[in-house]
Formats: sequence, C-alpha cells, structure tokens
Amino acid sequence: MSGLVCPWWLAFVSDNPLRRLFHKPEEILAPYVKTGMTVADLGCGMGYFSLDLARLVGGKGTVLSVDLQEQMLTVLRRRAVRARLADRIIPVLADATDLHLDREIDFALAFWMVHETPSAYGFFEQIERRMSEAARVLVAEPWVHVKRQRFLEILEDAGRAGLRVLAEPSVFFSRTALLVR
Ligand SMILES: C[S@@+](CC[C@H](N)C(=O)[O-])C[C@H]1O[C@@H](n2cnc3c(N)ncnc32)[C@H](O)[C@@H]1O
Repeated sequence: MSGLVCPWWLAFVSDNPLRRLFHKPEEILAPYVKTGMTVADLGCGMGYFSLDLARLVGGKGTVLSVDLQEQMLTVLRRRAVRARLADRIIPVLADATDLHLDREIDFALAFWMVHETPSAYGFFEQIERRMSEAARVLVAEPWVHVKRQRFLEILEDAGRAGLRVLAEPSVFFSRTALLVR
C-alpha cells in the first residue's frame, strides 16, 4: 500500500494547540516512556509528540524525530530550541523506504503515518531490527482514512515483520495497536 504523504503546509492545520483538547501527548505516551530511554517518533511531522517525548525521556534520554520532509524537521528544530529540548532531540531525514534508524530504541511512536508509507511490512521490519528486548511500538491510524480492514492488513504486515499486538489503547479518532516482539 502506498498512501499520499501529508504535505508539510497542511500539518499546521492538525498541529496546533486545539489538538491538545483531544490528543494529550503526555496521557498517550506516559505509560510507555520512561526517563533515560531512547525513543523514536516516526513520521514526526512538526513534532507534535516529539517535544513531550523529550520531556518524558529527560536529560539523559534521546528522541529520534524521523520524517521524510525536510520542511517538517525545520519547524521541529525551531520548536525544540524554543522549548530548550534540542539537546535530546535528533532530527532524522528519512527516505520513503528507509527510516535511517541508527541505534537501538526502547519505544517507537507511529502516529497517523503508517498509511502514508509505501510498504507497512518494510516499515515494521526496520523497526523490529532496532528494538531493544522490552521495546514497544505504539501505532495509531486515523479511523476516517484507515478503515478497519486496512488497519487489519497493517497489523498483518506488522505480524509478518515479527511484531504482535499486546493491547489496543484508546486514542481519540484512532485505531491503535501496541506492538511487541
Ligand atoms: C499525518 S502526518 C502526522 C505527523 C505526526 N505524527 C502527528 O501526529 O502530528 C504524517 C507524517 O509522516 C511523514 N511520513 C510519511 N511517510 C513517511 C515515511 N515513509 N518515512 C518517514 N516519514 C514519513 C510525513 O512526512 C508526515 O510528516
């Protein structure tokens, strides 16, 4: 499956303070992210979740903020500096088929982005290779764009890559899966 990639200028519509009313990053992420972890925000966009991930991992942790659009990373960099979190956020420019993950990760977030990748299987395979023993992957897909059948196909691809569904946390407007090895 290959979906359309969200254009960078449209991200300003979904990445704004109003979104905090229904997607509360700390509430969504705190159960999985602890101090000192190395985490990845895959398809981070302008960093809606990256900044809160950076607060949760603390000064000794690292956030790899990965996106395929340089414009997204430019805004993310600016926000990270403004929030004084740039020391623990590493922006990573991905290719459509290569996330350029260069280290072991303890947690990965893929929020409203898997449907935009050219191959969900290829995507999960790259993550699986970099997961630490107890690592978890939280996938959330927008229920309007990604119908139930499509989401099940995405989970099948995750399964073929060696990941299984541990839980389906409740996230507003989303179909979700918490994946483990
Ligand atoms: C709908 S936006 C979601 C952004 C962010 N996760 C959020 O929830 O605010 C999807 C993002 O995924 C990125 N993306 C799409 N395909 C990608 C890929 N193959 N590798 C890395 N990033 C990708 C897009 O550039 C876009 O920034």
